[in-house]
Amino acid sequence: MKWALALALAAVSSVTFAAGGSTYPLEQIEPDYTDKVSLQRGLATYSHYCMGCHSLEYQRYERTATDLGIDLEIMVQAIVPSDKKIGDLGGIAMPAKAAAEWFGAPPPDLTLVARKRSPEWVYTYMKTFYVDPTRPLGVNNKVFPKVGMPHVLEPLQGQQRAVCEDLTSVENRNAGPDAGSGQSLTESQCGSLEVIEGTAQLSAAEYDRLIYDLVNFLEYVGEPTKARAHSIGIYVLLFLMLFFVFAYLLKREYWKDVQ
Ligand code: HEC
Repeated sequence: MKWALALALAAVSSVTFAAGGSTYPLEQIEPDYTDKVSLQRGLATYSHYCMGCHSLEYQRYERTATDLGIDLEIMVQAIVPSDKKIGDLGGIAMPAKAAAEWFGAPPPDLTLVARKRSPEWVYTYMKTFYVDPTRPLGVNNKVFPKVGMPHVLEPLQGQQRAVCEDLTSVENRNAGPDAGSGQSLTESQCGSLEVIEGTAQLSAAEYDRLIYDLVNFLEYVGEPTKARAHSIGIYVLLFLMLFFVFAYLLKREYWKDVQ
């Protein structure tokens, strides 16, 4: 029986599901904090589209610039808000209480979001906003049902609609003659999403790349020492290899006299 249990556990662990009440399967990604160009692009997207609402309160602008290989002058001109200094932490001016009133919940700090949720969760989250007229902002999200955040990247990704099993979209279902008739389909029957033609500025591949870079950046921000620890680790291994060669030569030298 043990093998059956092991098999069941392996099957469960091979698919990651979304945390927080949703069972939507998460897309797998491999963050790469050594890819500085990707991290720089992620920072640019964050500063354009997210910084107005979300802070990075545990990260200093200067640290980000140094780690990502960005000139401090350029960082000040392009990223750091005018009321902040390069040595400051990435807080925001939006008052949390007012934001909670506007959106139903305050936009949380994003410094640790990739560690709290997982990079896969954030990646899938940014890809699964869809049109839902029953929500106050007109959009819902597959991994964060009833989300309070607007789909800020909608012009880039385009509007998505959920396609239900009988091939009618959620929109039609909610707006159509059957609306409110008790025959509405459950969430799980409306699994797949499709971009509504003519609403997107980017291709699907370009949008995936944009989100990958953004999540890569958020993953780096959650653990900025990881990249440095990794490169120190490589030097330590190289040193040990070199040390082994000398130790071996020394051993041979000593044993020559003994034998
Ligand atoms: C207009 C304000 C606004 C903007 C701009 C915005 N968000 Fe949000 N975001 C919110 C709000 C409000 C919530 C909380 C939603 C809730 O709890 O229902 C949220 C929640 C989130 C969450 C979920 C956090 C968690 O663990 O619960 C993530 C991840 C996130 N936002 C990422 C982003 C990213 C990435 C961007 C930029 C592309 C962005 N947001 C831009 C308002 C915003």
